[in-house]
Amino acid sequence: MDEKTQVATALQTALPDMSIEDIKNKLERPKTNKNGDYAFPTFFLAKELHKAPQMIAGELIEKIDQTGFEKVVAAGPYINFFLDKANVGAGILKEILADPEHYGNLDLGHQANVTIDMSSPNIAKPMSMGHLRSTVIGNAIANIMKKVNYNPIKIDHLGDWGTQFGKLMAAYEMWGDEEAVKADPINTLQKYYVKINTEADEHPEYAEAGREWFRKLEDGDEEAVRLWKWFRAESLKRFMKVYDMLDVQFDSYNGEAFYNDKMDEILQLLNDKHLLQKSRGAGIVDLSKYDLNPAMVQKSDGSTLYMTRDLATALFRKRMYGFEQSLYVVGAEQSYYFQQLKATLATMGFTWSKQIHHIPFGLMTLNGKKMSTRKGNVVQLEEVLDESIKLARQQIAEKNPDLANADQVAQEVGVGAIVFHDLKNERTNSINFKLEDAVKFEGETGPYVQYAHARAESLLRKAGNPDLAGADLKLNDEESWNIIKLLGQYQETIKRAAVKYDPSLIGKYALSLAKAFNQYYAHTRILVDDDQKLARLALVQAVSDVLKSALALLGVKAPDEM
Ligand code: ARG
Repeated sequence: MDEKTQVATALQTALPDMSIEDIKNKLERPKTNKNGDYAFPTFFLAKELHKAPQMIAGELIEKIDQTGFEKVVAAGPYINFFLDKANVGAGILKEILADPEHYGNLDLGHQANVTIDMSSPNIAKPMSMGHLRSTVIGNAIANIMKKVNYNPIKIDHLGDWGTQFGKLMAAYEMWGDEEAVKADPINTLQKYYVKINTEADEHPEYAEAGREWFRKLEDGDEEAVRLWKWFRAESLKRFMKVYDMLDVQFDSYNGEAFYNDKMDEILQLLNDKHLLQKSRGAGIVDLSKYDLNPAMVQKSDGSTLYMTRDLATALFRKRMYGFEQSLYVVGAEQSYYFQQLKATLATMGFTWSKQIHHIPFGLMTLNGKKMSTRKGNVVQLEEVLDESIKLARQQIAEKNPDLANADQVAQEVGVGAIVFHDLKNERTNSINFKLEDAVKFEGETGPYVQYAHARAESLLRKAGNPDLAGADLKLNDEESWNIIKLLGQYQETIKRAAVKYDPSLIGKYALSLAKAFNQYYAHTRILVDDDQKLARLALVQAVSDVLKSALALLGVKAPDEM
């Protein structure tokens, strides 16, 4: 039972007509310690009972079951609860040790489906740091949703269709070298794509060639389809390498091309409902009712667009998964676009468009520079991950040269550093990424949290991993209470992170817990033999368990030694 429920339950003995939830909603957190840990104001009862609040408080206090509290006192119109810290603490530790894996779980979702559109890189292009953000934020949100009993469905909506493939094929026709592509597919294709884009101004005919190739692709031309399949397969292979490194799995890789045969229905529906308007040959949907610019769903040459595919996607997902929420983890630069998407679906009469949520995130710059794929100054994710692992390896070599599985740990720390660096920031903030900062073992980093966890594990090993189950877990010093209070807030933190789709709340929580633990570690002689030794070790175990759980929610590993 969490503290708040404990207070509400005690109050309910005196207020049997109120529900626990109602009582909880009335509870306040006093500003100073001298008014206790929780306060229950009685003003709202005055009218009904025809009595002064002071009097009500005085009467209630007689009826409240005070067991389990240090004290409960009436203070004017308030009833102040002072938690019996040692007892509350022991209860929290016991709960964690009994089932560390499920600690913090709660049931908000009742197993309802939530689709999460995430990562979604574009084929024939390197995966950028922007796609990294979508991948790790989406993955963390999926983990958090699962923890609160939703059923997350992770979808990699690959950008595998669109006019850019026409351009790429035109470029390949002019400069393509099959061997070179085979040797290094993504980089080579990327080079062609950049070349055709940079030279397009001098050569207007390139654009026409691109359009022509895309038309061929849409018409199912054999050579165009062969090239497309080849580009796609090679790209996916490379993306998989990154997903393996990040240990992220998907439930579906249905990308844009999957919806090619599903867009007619959308256009037909729009037409039937008289929503499809012509504007200079193009098909548009008026969204002025929503204060938005019209959405273009068909180009003047009849070809479809990103929007058309997303309309078909949304409908397909609703039918396929019956989602209760449909999330799109996509950069903030597409916010307007997603407003248009939702509005178009609403106009079509799909009331479930309200269940669609764009989860935007800020731009990631690298050492202050923006990353773009069209001009080619991209930062490749794989390079960054490799570099980070190398840095982690160096630090391990300095700090712990005898570590047995150093390469494996370096991988977990290097990758974890990047993931954590991304997730500790509120997702809408822009991030300037500096690798050296992210991989540091001190400061607000993933390795710092991982290190606190490893330190806790090492203490437990040193103590011989004693059996803590039957021990007296009461602790009454201020520093351990600081930690226990945090441990008790884990579930509440998870709940907020789930409701706000914001993993940074978990990241910040993990940092606070690691910091509190390091302070404790610095000031307390944990392993000294006295009658609280087992209680202290239980605290260490609980910290280790909760840090590991919080990191896991973020998709970061917690090595036992580093
Ligand atoms: N491929 C797109 C991009 O890189 C992101 C796709 C997001 N998902 C979607 N259903 N529109 O910008």
